[in-house]
Amino acid sequence: MYSQPIPDKYYKLTQYELDERIALMKEELADRVVILGHHYQRDEVIQFADYRGDSFKLSQLAASRSGADYIVFCGVHFMAESADILSADHQKVSLPDLNAGCHMADMADLDLVEECWEQLTDVCGDSTIPITYMNSAADLKAFCGENEGAVCTSSNALAVMDWAFAKKDKLLFFPDEHLGRNTGVARGINLNEMILWNPSEDMGGNTEEAVERAKLILWQGNCPIHQLFTPKQIDRLRQEVPDVKILVHPECRYEVVQKSDLNGSTAFILKTIEEAPAGSKWAIGTEMHLVNRLAQEHPDKWITSIDPNMCLCTTMNRIDTPHLLWTLENLLDDEVVNQITVEPEIAHWAKVALGRMLEIV
Ligand code: 13P
Ligand code: SF4
Repeated sequence: MYSQPIPDKYYKLTQYELDERIALMKEELADRVVILGHHYQRDEVIQFADYRGDSFKLSQLAASRSGADYIVFCGVHFMAESADILSADHQKVSLPDLNAGCHMADMADLDLVEECWEQLTDVCGDSTIPITYMNSAADLKAFCGENEGAVCTSSNALAVMDWAFAKKDKLLFFPDEHLGRNTGVARGINLNEMILWNPSEDMGGNTEEAVERAKLILWQGNCPIHQLFTPKQIDRLRQEVPDVKILVHPECRYEVVQKSDLNGSTAFILKTIEEAPAGSKWAIGTEMHLVNRLAQEHPDKWITSIDPNMCLCTTMNRIDTPHLLWTLENLLDDEVVNQITVEPEIAHWAKVALGRMLEIV
């Protein structure tokens, strides 16, 4: 994927100049542009978002804001692709820096999933339904659309799993093994009814009997950021701060989610903190930008990260104010830099899978 290079001059501007010019561009473009921002975006970027949200809310917004000619997506590639698929035909979607990918989404690709699907079909016939996490490429969403499956996000994974198990006996969940496992357990599935599918091994590294027995087949993929939180860190925190509440994203490992008090999407994390009483204490297991912002916005509450040395999501961080300004200034001349377009055939089936999700919830 080739990202159009941003002219150097944008990096020579001060933060003050960048902010002023972005505000001016927004005024000039007015209703022609809508800026969508994910909760993990930098503070200096998210302040310019017309709407903020988790990946579910942002997909709903992309589907419902047909007035604007342009959608500037401050998030990562799979989110901008979904916006392109769900938005009206005349709308153009830009991701200011195409290097804003997602490490987890890159852990599954269509060839490997099709190979897995073939092997599952050989062993289990048509008893499996595919569900892809929103954090996946459009062709994987299309694969689910074509094979009676759906998309889910961290805010609706349980409802989508319920829907899927009402249709078929087995579920293939990709690419996040942790969200799949955590949701499966929340739904009452035993760990011994789940298997892990390693895409680089024949039968995912499983025997035919294990595949036949399994209810939930979990693709071996993960978020390298959320995966780093550990149960030990939680134990230590609880010892040091006995009345602390642990709030994590379900992309964290099973053992971490089990030790937490609450888990949910970025929107759930935000809402929980907003509604928490003054004086309450929270250790949060998610990306640092969101944790830091929550701590700043709620000085009446004690808020920390489960791991204060945690690194941020480097791909989310690619979207910065120079890229945002460059994108907006080009839009004023009807030039769309780093446009996201999904091929019509893929977009059709991906929209089917996304549409099922939007209907389920
Ligand atoms: P949310 O859907 O909870 O916003 O999560 C997206 C994501 O990428 C988390 O790492
Ligand atoms: Fe992907 Fe993890 Fe970054 Fe979310 S935090 S966008 S899952 S790499």
